Amino acid sequence: MTALETLRESSPVVSVGILTADLLSLGSELALLERCGVQVVHVDAMDGCFCPMMTVGPPLLKALRTLLLKDVHLMIDEPLNKVADYVAAGADIITIHPERCSHIHRTLQQMRAMKNANNSERGLVRGVGLNPGTPLEVLEPLLDELEMILVLAVNPGWGGQKLIPSTRGRVEKVKRMIADSGRDILLCLDGGVTRDNIGEVVNWGVDMIVTGSAVFDGKAAEGNARFMLEQARMSRQ
Ligand code: DX5
Ligand code: ZN
Repeated sequence: MTALETLRESSPVVSVGILTADLLSLGSELALLERCGVQVVHVDAMDGCFCPMMTVGPPLLKALRTLLLKDVHLMIDEPLNKVADYVAAGADIITIHPERCSHIHRTLQQMRAMKNANNSERGLVRGVGLNPGTPLEVLEPLLDELEMILVLAVNPGWGGQKLIPSTRGRVEKVKRMIADSGRDILLCLDGGVTRDNIGEVVNWGVDMIVTGSAVFDGKAAEGNARFMLEQARMSRQ
């Protein structure tokens, strides 16, 4: 089964972000997610240019040994010549941003030819992410070259921010755009999803929900992960 088919079948999927996890214990944090039945781990790669923080590069991504699908969110400048390294390091889903990318269409075309390094049968899910201030029209010429659209509900850079209210309207518009395209494109919402609003967010009809600090809050990651999964499962029935 391809990664896209797995995600489609399990929609809405919870992708857990590790930005606020215990970075010195990532192995056991990932084992905890697997134990709870999480299917996808969200890895925020920041380069200190696109957004102020620096996080992980390909070597750390490669070191994450896990059965989970690796959902890699590249918040980096000019990804054209960098995506191949992240794919070689084991990305299953790889999202790039148009805001600081001179050749977004070409980058997506280039990704079409890349093989999934974990398992070549799985294919790659190519995502395009949009900052809250980016007009949605940028997506139109890209719809034939992507499998996922990631709507950022917070400004890129940090975990634990509040979901920006205008996100709901943006999600509605992107859903319409996807329906009109007639293509199988996943819609992902990233940022600001908490225990209190996950129920509402799944009702918006997104296929994947990224949640970071609501799971890795420094206290009860296992209970939090199970709670978020249960909320997504309930909406599926
Ligand atoms: C923001 C990142 C998000 C963020 C999610 O730059 O892309 O993935 O870490 O974290 P929470 O769920 O804490 O908003
Ligand atoms: Zn992210």
